Amino acid sequence: MHGSSQNSTTPSTQRSARREAAWKGLAAVAAASLLALSAGWAGAAEPAAIPVTDSTFNCLKDMTKVRHFYVDNVLGKTEATKAVAEKGSGDYPVGSVVQLIPGEAMVKQPKGFNPATRDWEFFELDVAKEGSTIRKRGFVDVVNRFGGNCFACHVKARPEFDMVCEMEHGCDPIPITRRMLAAVQKTDPRCTEPDPLTEDDQKALDELNEVLKTMTMPAAAPKQGT
Ligand code: HEC
Repeated sequence: MHGSSQNSTTPSTQRSARREAAWKGLAAVAAASLLALSAGWAGAAEPAAIPVTDSTFNCLKDMTKVRHFYVDNVLGKTEATKAVAEKGSGDYPVGSVVQLIPGEAMVKQPKGFNPATRDWEFFELDVAKEGSTIRKRGFVDVVNRFGGNCFACHVKARPEFDMVCEMEHGCDPIPITRRMLAAVQKTDPRCTEPDPLTEDDQKALDELNEVLKTMTMPAAAPKQGT
């Protein structure tokens, strides 16, 4: 009887085990496809980049000047960008372009695009009479012509300033004065009607050249693995 009892219980145990396995398998398949579905949704929800090309960047004077820097918005929302710049704090709207000197720019990509940089894309430009050429672009790894990493400096701005440094926002200072910056802005080669340089502008540019000879950037590229 031992044998028959074994024969009668074992197949049923095996059957229920098989059923259980089948259920588990089904559940796993369902979970996997749900996962795939949500991954698909997440992928679809990922914001598309705002197209930024050489022709996005033009003569600084064609932008809107706020205090000592220039703003614009590639999506046409210039007033919204200008409002944040004038207020001096808060999040810049998507599409914002901010420039201080002709050769460097920040553009705000859609929300969620790059959380580390709060969706700012950094650009280093070559500028000439003919226009701008994007030399480098990216998020955390763009290094300017002086060896400084844009993100490493700008990330030090306190949160309410949305990575915009100005002078009192918490970024390490740069050895370039506002007077020098104002003169550099006037030398933008892309402008068809550049503002004439005053004697003081010329002096400021000469002083800037001296500074640049010895300038080292306080923030080099972030160390790998830290
Ligand atoms: C050594 C640190 C440092 C590096 C590197 C640096 N910046 Fe800045 N940046 C500053 C500081 C400080 C200011 C503010 C200067 C002022 O207002 O007088 C500034 C100003 C600006 C502004 C005007 C808006 C603002 O934040 O005040 C833009 C745009 C900008 N930088 C873009 C860039 C880009 C693009 C790069 C890289 C290609 C870059 N910066 C690299 C420190 C840095």
